[in-house]
Amino acid sequence: MPIQFKDKLKMRDITNHKLSCQPCQSSDIQSVMDINESTLPENYPLFFYEQILERYPDSFLIVSLKDQPSVRIGYIMWRIERGPSSFGLDYVKKGHLVSLAVLPRYRRLGAASLLLKESMKIIQKYNVSEYVLEVRVSNTGAVRLYEEVLQFEKIRIIGHYYRDGEDAFYLSHKYDPFNQNAPHSVGMLDDEIFQYYYKHNQGHLCYKCPNCQHILVKGLSYSYPGSIHPNDPSIIKCAFCNQDNSKFSISQGQFDMRILKK
Ligand SMILES: CC(C)(COP(=O)(O)OP(=O)(O)OC[C@H]1O[C@@H](n2cnc3c(N)ncnc32)[C@H](O)[C@@H]1OP(=O)(O)O)[C@@H](O)C(=O)NCCC(=O)NCCS
Repeated sequence: MPIQFKDKLKMRDITNHKLSCQPCQSSDIQSVMDINESTLPENYPLFFYEQILERYPDSFLIVSLKDQPSVRIGYIMWRIERGPSSFGLDYVKKGHLVSLAVLPRYRRLGAASLLLKESMKIIQKYNVSEYVLEVRVSNTGAVRLYEEVLQFEKIRIIGHYYRDGEDAFYLSHKYDPFNQNAPHSVGMLDDEIFQYYYKHNQGHLCYKCPNCQHILVKGLSYSYPGSIHPNDPSIIKCAFCNQDNSKFSISQGQFDMRILKK
């Protein structure tokens, strides 16, 4: 039976006791594909999952509720690669996040945090020194998860990374066995992100939430640069402070978003 919202609230504090994370088995791949196809536009053929499972079985994890162990509610997949460091000039071994998703009705219970923390520990067996990932610039909930829970940093913007033209933030986390929470100073500053959109890209809107000042980026659904259609009634909810903000009152480059009265 699906979990009701009030039950979710009760579960929040005891979430890790309710969730169980295990290595994916070949018999789980169909559930993983179902979760992927119902939550993300980036879908893959069966052989892709099989290859990841064959090559990196330990860090391909699924998560279930302990009292319903047969129901898969989320998954995470990584691959290992070598490439230039995000934090210096070295050529390093990295864990690259391939895909992460949790079914909508089970979100905000800590499932993604658990999958990330567990898999990032496990992946150390490959001696990676960095973890990297791409995330849609408009996916502020996921950006918040990576930045605030896992201390990833925005390293750069990859223009038109996704098939529908949306940009990606490239995020990185340096593995530091002595001080996991050490801040790094090489990430992109908010000003650099503003400058990027000012110079390069009219298909996105970049602004600060007027309530909490976190940076938010939205893909524009029409191509009239620098404006929002005045009849657009939709509201943007800030992922960081939950403030409802009107899209119409946002003016690109001016960041003067009016706060809607609740
Ligand atoms: C992003 C996603 C994986 C998060 O899964 P989740 O299990 O709900 O995440 P968690 O419960 O571990 O969230 C931990 C924290 O991350 C942040 N967070 C996660 N989702 C958020 C959202 N939608 N809005 C704001 N903050 C969010 C919060 O700080 C949250 O802590 P809180 O609930 O105490 O406020 C899930 O929303 C999802 O599957 N989305 C669709 C697929 C996707 O975007 N995958 C990532 C692609 S890179």
